[in-house]
Amino acid sequence: MATILGIDEQAILAAADTLAQGKLVAIPTETVYGLAADATNGSAVAGIFEAKGRPHFNPLICHVSDIAMAERYAKIDPVSRLLIDAFWPGPLTLVLPLKPDADIHPLVAAGLDTIALRMPRGVARKIIAALDRPLAAPSANTSGKISGTSAIAVEQDLGSKIAMILDAGPSEVGLESTIVKVDGDTILMLRPGGLAAEEIEAVTGRKLGRVDQRAAIQAPGMMASHYAPSAAMRLNVHEVMAGEALLAFGPERANGYSGAAAMLNLSETGSLHEAATNLFDFMKRLDITGSSTIAVEPIPFNGLGEAINDRLIRAAAPRSLSVAEMEQIK
Ligand code: TXA
Ligand code: MG
Repeated sequence: MATILGIDEQAILAAADTLAQGKLVAIPTETVYGLAADATNGSAVAGIFEAKGRPHFNPLICHVSDIAMAERYAKIDPVSRLLIDAFWPGPLTLVLPLKPDADIHPLVAAGLDTIALRMPRGVARKIIAALDRPLAAPSANTSGKISGTSAIAVEQDLGSKIAMILDAGPSEVGLESTIVKVDGDTILMLRPGGLAAEEIEAVTGRKLGRVDQRAAIQAPGMMASHYAPSAAMRLNVHEVMAGEALLAFGPERANGYSGAAAMLNLSETGSLHEAATNLFDFMKRLDITGSSTIAVEPIPFNGLGEAINDRLIRAAAPRSLSVAEMEQIK
């Protein structure tokens, strides 16, 4: 059972304090309730995937309190800026280039070099301002269930897994935010949502491009643009070959590990939670060593292991495979 508070000043401070401790808080936004964690804290963000029971790591939306906070993390092109001025705070998320060295944990963007940002209306924004850090927050529901649009629905679904819920009554919009990405001359709608395409088109004077929603539903956030190392990936490795970079897991090493050109251990103790927080960062770090192959030790499939393995399989898949083909090798 989570602590359920209202949305007065004291509740806002309590929520900010709980989030600062790396705990999860369900917060009301105008679209749906969000399952929020401090976006700079990898362990807290891993907790989101754990609580939702997500079988894979989607990149998460990062919520900011003001434009200055958005500019700390992302480069904002003029068209995105126009949309921000027209619709923030509100149900519009923009996918923007992540600034190098931005203090956002790589698990939030699932290793991508872009970040999805949104400024929510109401109490959520006040909590972010009080914390003075962005919040990663997907909808507050178990993976596969419908999005939580009231505190009671969130309590029934996730109450045993989270610290606190702020109750602001039923969500105003009841549908997730619209996600847009400005890509040169095209403005793409990556996810239809609480802000109508026509409203966006009226502001930009341009038609919105659409993505194949069927493919997007099959693999949300996992399209071709997703981070993949330039090195080949060899999974479930029991025998390391000389010169390979080794992505290790747990206290025991695969045979031949001493011949590895480089090695990083996702979790010495075998914690899947710790491994999740290290995954994207360590893949990148091994990739830039220049080894042609990253060998990955076996990782169990239980708990967060399912998402970790899903991500590794996608990173190992040849880039030319279609989403459907990728689903088959899972
Ligand atoms: O209304 C909302 O947007 C709710 C409330 C809580 O704010 N939040 C929400 O967040 O729906 P989330 O984290 O579940 O949205 C994740 C989706 C991904 O599946 C993906 O489609 C998109 O946002 N996304 C996130 N980062 C992305 C990126 N860097 N590039 C492309 N798509 C991205
Ligand atoms: Mg959702």
